[in-house]
Amino acid sequence: MAESKAFFLATPIYYVNDAPHIGHAYTTTAADVATRWRRQRGEDVWFLTGVDEHGTKVQRAAEAGGVTPQEWVDRLVADAWLPVLETIDAANDDFIRTTEPRHRERVQRFWEVVRENGYVYSAPYEGPYCVGCEEFKLSGDLVDGTGEFEGEKVCPVHGRPAEQLQETNWFFKLSAFGDRLIEYYEANPDAIQPRSAYNEVMSFIRQGLVDISMSRSSVSWGIPLSWDAEQVTYVWFDALLNYATAVGYGAEPGSADAELFDRVWPPDVNLVGKDILRFHAVYWPAMLMAADLAPPRKVFAHGWLLVGGEKMSKSKLTGIAPEQIIDTFGSDAFRYYFLRAIQFGQDGSFSWEDMHARYTAELANGLGNLASRGTAMVVRYRDGALPAGHDLTGAEQQIVDALARAVEVADPAIGELDFSTGIVAVKEFIDLVNLYVTEQEPWVLAKDEAQATRLDVVLNTIIESLRAVAVLYNPVMPKAMSALWEQIGGQAQLGPLAEQRIANVATWGQLAPGTAVTKGAALFPRIEVDE
Ligand code: MSP
Repeated sequence: MAESKAFFLATPIYYVNDAPHIGHAYTTTAADVATRWRRQRGEDVWFLTGVDEHGTKVQRAAEAGGVTPQEWVDRLVADAWLPVLETIDAANDDFIRTTEPRHRERVQRFWEVVRENGYVYSAPYEGPYCVGCEEFKLSGDLVDGTGEFEGEKVCPVHGRPAEQLQETNWFFKLSAFGDRLIEYYEANPDAIQPRSAYNEVMSFIRQGLVDISMSRSSVSWGIPLSWDAEQVTYVWFDALLNYATAVGYGAEPGSADAELFDRVWPPDVNLVGKDILRFHAVYWPAMLMAADLAPPRKVFAHGWLLVGGEKMSKSKLTGIAPEQIIDTFGSDAFRYYFLRAIQFGQDGSFSWEDMHARYTAELANGLGNLASRGTAMVVRYRDGALPAGHDLTGAEQQIVDALARAVEVADPAIGELDFSTGIVAVKEFIDLVNLYVTEQEPWVLAKDEAQATRLDVVLNTIIESLRAVAVLYNPVMPKAMSALWEQIGGQAQLGPLAEQRIANVATWGQLAPGTAVTKGAALFPRIEVDE
């Protein structure tokens, strides 16, 4: 047994029918900030992401591209899905592909266990199926079509008619888990967030759960069932299992993979878009219960990035690639913007104007300006040697107290995935320090030799504040904060930025007098955009 449970967070695994857009990058970025924050706290963390490679949707995309499904997914993963992790600066611990042997074998094993436990049976299925959602639809799920689909019933998400299926499948006895799910969620009301998502799931379960096909006979691109090679595992019942197979479910006892499973199970957070809440908060925990495994501790459903009021999507040609934004603003500003501007859990729209305005106000003029003024003045007035900060006055004490308060707000907020509250708490601290600089007028103090000690204190206060900001914003903007860490001599004086702890960040006076401060390149250079 592992000594203690690691914090295990996973993103959904994304369909590789096409390249990633900023909707996908949004989820991964949020996951990355949440896990980097936990690491900065000193916690043991496991961050998993990956891709969902099977199913009709991917198979058809490959056919349309004139290649085999395997060639299609290999190419897209190598050319688009792995590179985007670098582009957005994600520090994931693993990347799972559902075509990997480890996944295939463990999925087969899992369903054998569920079948041995009596929750799998064979029966005919007839009903609508939406390939866009890869989902068996109930007739109540469909809506009236418009335009070319006038008079037909269509999927509300994809706006296209569902296909009518008629096949003999293996069914998963979902109906057996309604009471257990309700009991679990009543005892753990935070296990689905936000609250609206909890309510939606509870009312869905209370309406009564029906059994659902766990295999497909008319699809070939998938994982065959071990007891019936004519059928492949229904893509969702293959994909959801990535969260278990990637961390060693079903691995050889005593192996490193089996140890990993003991260390991380169950997931602390399954982070998903609200479109796939039902799969994660109903089917997924029921599957785990059927295999005698603990369900996730929390499913968090975030909102959609919208374009023209609708969910951004490649299939509707509204997807913006992350590089389009990052090439101009950089990965740090991308990460900052989406988590700061949109309340996590709600929908949000992206606009170049808003991105540019916040970048300029909060990053270039706010933090960037504080860093460049602070470091430049230490270089200019004190030859780059940090002066001592004795004899704090009320003005400095206000900064020290404000820092403690910012940490008190930011730490629990980001721990609970309320990123904007956490980011804003630090931003307000930065605003206060900028105001302090304006009020103290160190450039005036510098002209008067009699004020030398006072100037020392002011300069020390600015650089100490930047030290704290570098630590607190490192999970959000790792590249810029590591540059800042270098500029203020943090690395030489206190060691790697990643090793600084949130619990200790408000302790004042960590940078010793004499620390070498340098003025580097602007952290957030001003950007001109074509309006
Ligand atoms: N393959 C399934 C998930 C299987 S998980 C076991 C799937 N893939 S997906 O590529 O269609 O989308 C996955 C996730 O990408 C969404 O749940 C969401 O987290 C993110 N997003 C995709 N489009 C998005 C927006 N427009 N806005 C916000 N997030 C979006 O569903």
